[in-house]
Amino acid sequence: MHETAEPTVDDERAKLAAADGPPALAVPFDATPLDATPLRTERMVLRPLLPSDADDVYEYQRLPEVLRFIPWPERDRVEGRQHTEKRAAWRTIADDDDALIFAMVLVGEPSVSISREGAKGDRVIGDLMLRVSSVEHAQLEIGWVVHPAFQGRGLALEGAREVLRFAFESLRAHRVHALLAARNLASAALCERLGMRREGTMLEEEYHYGEWEDSAVYGILRREWAAYL
Ligand SMILES: CC(C)(COP(=O)(O)OP(=O)(O)OC[C@H]1O[C@@H](n2cnc3c(N)ncnc32)[C@H](O)[C@@H]1OP(=O)(O)O)[C@@H](O)C(=O)NCCC(=O)NCCS
Repeated sequence: MHETAEPTVDDERAKLAAADGPPALAVPFDATPLDATPLRTERMVLRPLLPSDADDVYEYQRLPEVLRFIPWPERDRVEGRQHTEKRAAWRTIADDDDALIFAMVLVGEPSVSISREGAKGDRVIGDLMLRVSSVEHAQLEIGWVVHPAFQGRGLALEGAREVLRFAFESLRAHRVHALLAARNLASAALCERLGMRREGTMLEEEYHYGEWEDSAVYGILRREWAAYL
């Protein structure tokens, strides 16, 4: 008698993946509408980074504890401003490696800078990145940094949840992943709070501060995100 094999976990996943259909990243995407209609969360406005955010950004960009796990060199204020200007100019997502930076504007928290008109806007306390790893395969990377004085309040989680929603709903990503130093436990905990799965650890992938460091990859698929909401 012919026995039918039980479907494996991989068979089940292949069925679900097929049901998701082929990749269809919604590109080119131009950030201009987000200036007028930014993303909003309970406590923050998430809008494209602006050159005028440079002073607020420098407040976290200059701190060694922030630089420990992100691939930013130490910068003086002038270099910091140039870096913010460069990232603020990333306004279109069309090709692999294109990125968009969302400033995390904490409503009611005064900025460290004063505008030419003498007004203090709300403060940029961190930023969230979305980068295209592959247009062809609808793959995006998410990244985050928050000023230490504003960590431990769930703000990274609140902002990253909204950026994930944007990645899946507006850009139609199939999978979003985060790449982090394996020792970055705060970042790994955030990935897990977001419902991301640890996909793997890459041994001795980078050399920083005189040591080989392992990297971790976390990921979440569109259908996992939809189920996690
Ligand atoms: C990674 C990083 C963004 C995480 O920030 P975070 O503030 O710890 O993350 P969350 O927003 O998820 O906040 C979680 C903490 O807030 C607490 N919290 C307080 N109020 C909360 C709320 N309303 N909702 C959720 N959590 C809340 C949680 O209990 C948790 O505290 P714990 O760390 O003591 O367990 C931050 O560590 C960082 O910017 N690091 C430096 C840059 C960096 O390494 N970037 C990543 C490169 S891959």
